[in-house]
Amino acid sequence: MTVAVADAPTVEAAAHAGSSSQPSVDRPPYSGAALEAHVQRSWDYFKSLGSPKWHVAPMVDQSELPFRMLCRAHGAEAAYTPMLHSRLFLEQHKYREEHFSTCPGDRPLFIQFCANDPDTFVAAAQIVQEHADYIDLNLGCPQRIAKRGFYGAFLMDDLQLIEQLVTAAASRLAKPVSCKIRLFPDISKTIEYARMLQAAGCSLLAVHGRLRECKDNSAVRADWDGIAAVRAAVQIPVLANGDVQCMADAQRLMAHTKADGVMSAEPLLSDPALFSSSRQPEATISHMESYQVCVEYLDLVASYPSHARMVKGHVHKLLRGWLAEFTELRERIQRDASGGDLTVLRSLVAELGEQIAATGRDYPIPKLTERKLKQMEKEAAKQTSIQEQEREAAGLAAIGAAVAAEPQQQQQQLVQQQQQETLLQQQQQQEGREQPQQLGKQAAGDCLDEPAQKRQQTMPAEAAAVGV
Ligand SMILES: Cc1cc2nc3c(=O)[nH]c(=O)nc-3n(C[C@H](O)[C@H](O)[C@H](O)COP(=O)(O)O)c2cc1C
Repeated sequence: MTVAVADAPTVEAAAHAGSSSQPSVDRPPYSGAALEAHVQRSWDYFKSLGSPKWHVAPMVDQSELPFRMLCRAHGAEAAYTPMLHSRLFLEQHKYREEHFSTCPGDRPLFIQFCANDPDTFVAAAQIVQEHADYIDLNLGCPQRIAKRGFYGAFLMDDLQLIEQLVTAAASRLAKPVSCKIRLFPDISKTIEYARMLQAAGCSLLAVHGRLRECKDNSAVRADWDGIAAVRAAVQIPVLANGDVQCMADAQRLMAHTKADGVMSAEPLLSDPALFSSSRQPEATISHMESYQVCVEYLDLVASYPSHARMVKGHVHKLLRGWLAEFTELRERIQRDASGGDLTVLRSLVAELGEQIAATGRDYPIPKLTERKLKQMEKEAAKQTSIQEQEREAAGLAAIGAAVAAEPQQQQQQLVQQQQQETLLQQQQQQEGREQPQQLGKQAAGDCLDEPAQKRQQTMPAEAAAVGV
């Protein structure tokens, strides 16, 4: 069962929400004793959630509800939603329906938004904050789409705006604000940035140890020293992110950075049980486990429906090894499972299970080379990114069209109103001409309103006749 999302408040309502509920002395940006109190509150809150260590990172189109539930079932202690576009989320019911769902077991939950306008950010977050443990601000997206929309890591060019976004959310939302950041090339600038976020009211900081310029994670190792420097510079809880392939990596990253938790993204896609405590720390998922986990994921999709493109993405990632052997099934999954019919996908995966069993092996013998597979995955990721950009552009264009239509609608209403008034006037004038004749036997003007009476008194006969 998924839970319903409240209707959108207006941006104006959000702008005033919470503005008088907190004493002004305790409002961000904090310094001195107020900062200390903020740090204490942040820790009390984090601890009240059980001090979660193992986090599912935000992933567009991939950290959706059934995948979060799958990771939670295998050791993840908290999870982020995919990034939600605050303006689209606020203004489009359809976008909200497609991109956000949750359920009672989906906690602790970070609901992540990208935003560049404080009121829009707050208003969007207000719609879902009751389902969130943190409202997260994406300050790390390095993609072209983020550059065009001026959000994510590109806000690093306007730290004042970031401060305004965080301050607004921290003072007006009912739930704490967290931020997910990247590093600046200059570590002292990163430290200054992190301290600014803490003082602005950020209650938890997730640090992806790469620069904005790095779009391909596999090409550059995450800078764990950079994350450690941020951890040492702020007092609020910090999560470390980058290059965690197994539990032993996660433990090493925590030890190296002294962070309070670790988040993983891409490695979880092929190993949702990465945070499982029942595994050897250095172990990674086996091929048979991958198949089992995929079936489990599809069962979760039956309970928590998800978009076909997201589901297919997960199936491909989880069955990567086997589908490199059973290439005909790979193509059928690609071709036949696009319509969103879960039964088709499940039966294809069941067929794969039979073929795996028939081999008598617990490992695949790939027909596709590793290079070819990587190439296909890169191409698929590129297509997904293009589709996501197109979806965002179409959503924004629809909002733009609705906004542009507004003055036109207003004008049409005005014209209609004027036409009605003119009609009324003409009726009144007509009545004015007819009354004296009809009421000739009565006292003339008894039934006329005052202006009509006046008009009668003052109108020359010829003017009254043409209805001027
Ligand atoms: C498919 C995919 C989608 C992502 N989407 C988001 C996102 O919506 N928001 C965000 O802050 N980071 C996003 N990221 C970045 C990850 O959260 C994470 O910071 C990055 O991948 C590094 O972690 P990793 O080495 O564990 O993959 C995404 C990464 C991947 C692979």
